[in-house]
Amino acid sequence: MAVATRAPLIAGNWKMHGTLDDSAELVSMLKKVVARPKDAQMLLCPPFTYLMAVRKWLKESNILLGAQNLSHQPDLGAYTGEVHGSMLKDVGCSFVIIGHSERRQFYGETDDLVAQKFQVAQAAGLTPILCIGETLEQHEKGKTESVVVGQMLAVLKTVGVAAFSNAVIAYEPVWAIGTGRTATPGQAQKVHALIRATISKHDATISSALRILYGGSVKGDNAKVLLSMDDIDGGLVGGASLKAEEFAAIFQAALN
Ligand code: PGA
Repeated sequence: MAVATRAPLIAGNWKMHGTLDDSAELVSMLKKVVARPKDAQMLLCPPFTYLMAVRKWLKESNILLGAQNLSHQPDLGAYTGEVHGSMLKDVGCSFVIIGHSERRQFYGETDDLVAQKFQVAQAAGLTPILCIGETLEQHEKGKTESVVVGQMLAVLKTVGVAAFSNAVIAYEPVWAIGTGRTATPGQAQKVHALIRATISKHDATISSALRILYGGSVKGDNAKVLLSMDDIDGGLVGGASLKAEEFAAIFQAALN
């Protein structure tokens, strides 16, 4: 698990799920779990439309709020359907997920676009959670390491290493997302160590403080062993973040 400077972060990516009522119930149950300041952080990333409501429900709690996406446009303007980083900040977000594999796969997001989003997120005062990870085909062809390093370097060359002092990376093997098939703790640790080593080549201090989350079928019953790995500093959780008990169990695993 995280060294002392890297407080574990357990982030819930709700994706395009739920209703306002479901969300209210989920938040009220989670607030009981995170009633007092803890050594780990919990972050909720609801759909845009629920951010305002969730922010209100989270008042007086230690749970953080984040978004799942943002516009790559640096300035406000006539961009129908888009949401600017400053708007997310305005409604209480402190984090934003960038470059999730579903955005890369279904919305054609390229490394360049992801790098632009990373920059506009930081310019708006948000901490980007940069998602990287290989597909099943790449995994089976033994390309995991080259794909992951390539995705990282593509962003690094645009934003510079200093930008990683205020960022989080999430390693999410695409074949493990929503499939119930998790990377083994050893497999995940190996990639996390590689990610840290890649940043370390540019700046060792930034690298040792960087939080690297694992994502892909994290559940209450596998969280502890994943989080016990040296370079796994938390989880980016999809399906299990929609079930209060399951997400609470993952959070609990991060505390011990
Ligand atoms: P999952 O999703 O936990 O449902 O596998 C993870 C993610 O997409 O961030």
